Amino acid sequence: MSDLSVQLGRLTLRNPVLVASGTFGYAREMAPFVDFAKLGGVVPKTVTQSPRAGNRPPRTVETASGMLNAIGLDNDGLEHFLTHHVPYLRTLPTAIVGNIAGKSEDEFVAMAARVHQSREGLAALELNLSCPNVSGGTDFAIDPELTRRIVRRCRDTCPDLPLIAKLTPNVTDITVIARAAADGGADAVSAVNTFVGMAIDWRRRKPILGNVTGGLSGPAIKPLALRAVWRIAQLKAVPVIAVGGIATLDDVMEFLIAGASAVQVGTANFYDPTASVRIADGLPAALAELGASSVREVVGTLKTP
Ligand SMILES: Cc1cc2nc3c(=O)[nH]c(=O)nc-3n(C[C@H](O)[C@H](O)[C@H](O)COP(=O)(O)O)c2cc1C
Repeated sequence: MSDLSVQLGRLTLRNPVLVASGTFGYAREMAPFVDFAKLGGVVPKTVTQSPRAGNRPPRTVETASGMLNAIGLDNDGLEHFLTHHVPYLRTLPTAIVGNIAGKSEDEFVAMAARVHQSREGLAALELNLSCPNVSGGTDFAIDPELTRRIVRRCRDTCPDLPLIAKLTPNVTDITVIARAAADGGADAVSAVNTFVGMAIDWRRRKPILGNVTGGLSGPAIKPLALRAVWRIAQLKAVPVIAVGGIATLDDVMEFLIAGASAVQVGTANFYDPTASVRIADGLPAALAELGASSVREVVGTLKTP
């Protein structure tokens, strides 16, 4: 019997396979396809303090081996999440990781405090410091000091709630931001959110997305995410949850070897809602191929020349 459990600071998960925010709704819509008991965790769509309508359409476009999205954090707000979605989510036999985005440092702290106060049912909180599609919003995780301060203040407000800082790859050196999140007291970092890109309809001389630019995700970004995760893991400062182009068991094993302690499956959920469950089912056999009987044994075991 393999030991699939993983420890990310204060957070323990039954296995390292989660589903990523914004690609799994609030889980209800996935219930017909997914045996939640087989997942390490579910990260529901980001919620903001107040409801948001999101960006003007079109909001998604398919690209080579991936997609661009500019949803713009369309959601019904934190109170609706706590009263409408959490009562359902907490009945699911898996860890639920809430995901919030504040418009300012103070709003992040106020939202974290509210979640903490009524946290029953939430195993952890992911701070989305990195949404590229919110007009007028700040991509907090491009600034190490801001990242450190937001994580620190949320940490102080919610001392026993596991906190995960979700990082943007749209920076020169993501390890600087990861270290800042670690200094702020994050239990883990999720790396990465989407890469900013764009698509053009040349005949109409127009951008395809209503927001002009959007975030690139899917298999196209896997090698980029792999490098980001590998570099952060080498800091040995904070556990890493890998996100970016993960669609298969092989992808997951690559990220674990690169140093990820857990993974999130994102875009793949849209075209194969059972991907995460199949990956989790396949983990023991993949570990056995390496002569390992636990996930922990293989994390960060890359042999570099
Ligand atoms: C349509 C769409 C919506 C997303 N919405 C969110 C969101 O609300 N919050 C968040 O933290 N990440 C969001 N993401 C980013 C994903 O969680 C993930 O970090 C990213 O897509 C890279 O992983 P992937 O290549 O496996 O999709 C979204 C991604 C997509 C494709």
